[in-house]
Amino acid sequence: MKLQVAQATFEEISASDFFYRNRDIAGLTNPSRAIFVAIREIVENALDAAESQKIPPDVYVRLSYEGEATKETQIYKLRVEDNGCGIPPRFIPSAFGQVLYGSKYKLKQARGTFGLGGKMAVLYGQITTHQPVFVTSSTGQEKIYSFKLMIDIQRNKPIILDRKVLINKDQWRGTIVEFTLEGDYLRAMPKIIEYFKQTAMVNPYANITFVDPKGRLYKFIRGTTVMPESPKETMPHPYGVDVELLQRLIQITTATNMSNFLKAHFHRVGEITAQKFLAFAAIPPSKNPKKLSHEEIVRLMQNLKKYKDFLPPDASCLSPLGEDLLKAGIEKELKPEYLVVHQRKPSTYAGHPFIVELAMAYGGDVPKRGTFVIYRFANKIPLLYDEASDVSYRVIAAMNWRRYKVAPDMPIAIVVHICSTKVPYKTVGKEFISDRPEVRREVANALREVARQLQHFLARQEHVHMEKKRLGIFSKYLPKIAQFSTTLAQKEKLPDIDKLLKSVQKYGAEES
Ligand SMILES: Nc1ncnc2c1ncn2[C@@H]1O[C@H](COP(=O)(O)OP(=O)(O)O)[C@@H](O)[C@H]1O
Ligand SMILES: [Mg+2]
Repeated sequence: MKLQVAQATFEEISASDFFYRNRDIAGLTNPSRAIFVAIREIVENALDAAESQKIPPDVYVRLSYEGEATKETQIYKLRVEDNGCGIPPRFIPSAFGQVLYGSKYKLKQARGTFGLGGKMAVLYGQITTHQPVFVTSSTGQEKIYSFKLMIDIQRNKPIILDRKVLINKDQWRGTIVEFTLEGDYLRAMPKIIEYFKQTAMVNPYANITFVDPKGRLYKFIRGTTVMPESPKETMPHPYGVDVELLQRLIQITTATNMSNFLKAHFHRVGEITAQKFLAFAAIPPSKNPKKLSHEEIVRLMQNLKKYKDFLPPDASCLSPLGEDLLKAGIEKELKPEYLVVHQRKPSTYAGHPFIVELAMAYGGDVPKRGTFVIYRFANKIPLLYDEASDVSYRVIAAMNWRRYKVAPDMPIAIVVHICSTKVPYKTVGKEFISDRPEVRREVANALREVARQLQHFLARQEHVHMEKKRLGIFSKYLPKIAQFSTTLAQKEKLPDIDKLLKSVQKYGAEES
């Protein structure tokens, strides 16, 4: 039998074309999810832009109804305004019209990662409504630039349809993004409102306004203007490098010997560490890095991973909230009766530094659901989907809560914030964090710490409750006994009952 084999055709597609064909990867799976993701991505960019300059963010979001798309879906216009750093005009077209283009590839903590999020939303808007995106921005200088753009999907390039320059009389600084997209707001609404509420919780220094398509106004007002320390850019840690990165560093380096090369391009490598490592790896310190063969580079990478004595990465490239700000955020949004927060020391996985911050809130506005309410955050982004797959959920589920006298039917919220230069997300959609042993350990340790403190609070509350009950019995019967014994003893003056009651009181009078 003769096999008929069809001639295969080979072609190359651009990055935008790839994401156009695979938009599920970025979480744009259906009209309800799409509108949620679009809002989230543009708001994240706004928060990043303000935070990078340590400006307390003012973010205004408006979603307005434009018309019907299909029976179930509508066309909406999304407009997001911020007071962030602004974008220099020459970068605006690519920042919004070229997938995988961005300013956040540096090694420091940011919400954005791939140069993808905002553009995926814009791309989605373009393919569902065939309308351009409008971007207006100023860095606070004399001029404001306004662009009307579309994405050339096949070439992954922006198309500039219009460009305007205005005089910046008021020294305005910030960015306004506006585009239309298809979506299902009614179905997405609960998640969107929850997203804003949780964003306000973990960004207590931000003012966030949301006007929904029905004209309803949601306002989240900052509770503080204190901002966390801005992250500093860092160099790669020796444990986190691969051959590709080594080759790139060798290409750009001006160092002419290995010792200087290591010191110049790696985090926490000084003279002594460099010498010791090179002895360990049997590489002469005077060797020129540009003369390393491919095999030598592979061996260098393997040795960098094997060497045990590199110092762990420091955490200056991270910007955790800190216990006070986390407390302020939770107090503002949940008004709990009791709140305990705990920040772990920096730790690492695969050479990437990370910090876990965790809080437990009891009572107040914490909803009582029969299970713990879990709020998950990564780099100050709320994670609202796929809870059961997340490392924090698993740690919480595996914990022996009886030991801490804590039951899931109590009004308890657990807040977990993980920040890292590289959050170990499982997907590009940024929904849950994978179960890495190092991350799991840190979450578990933090959880034990706050659980212990909550246990003390609950035990004390229980005592106070018992005491109240006991005093209640005393104060009910003592007057009767006093009356009775006075009559029995044929006396007239009743003994001082208050004094007696005080003497049986064990706990602080203020609580009884
Ligand atoms: N509101 C904004 N203010 C300042 N810069 C922005 C804003 N939105 C987007 N940008 C710039 O556009 C780039 C691309 O954004 P995006 O597609 O969301 O990717 P990412 O955030 O992952 O870098 C960002 O890296 C940033 O430099
Ligand atoms: Mg982004």
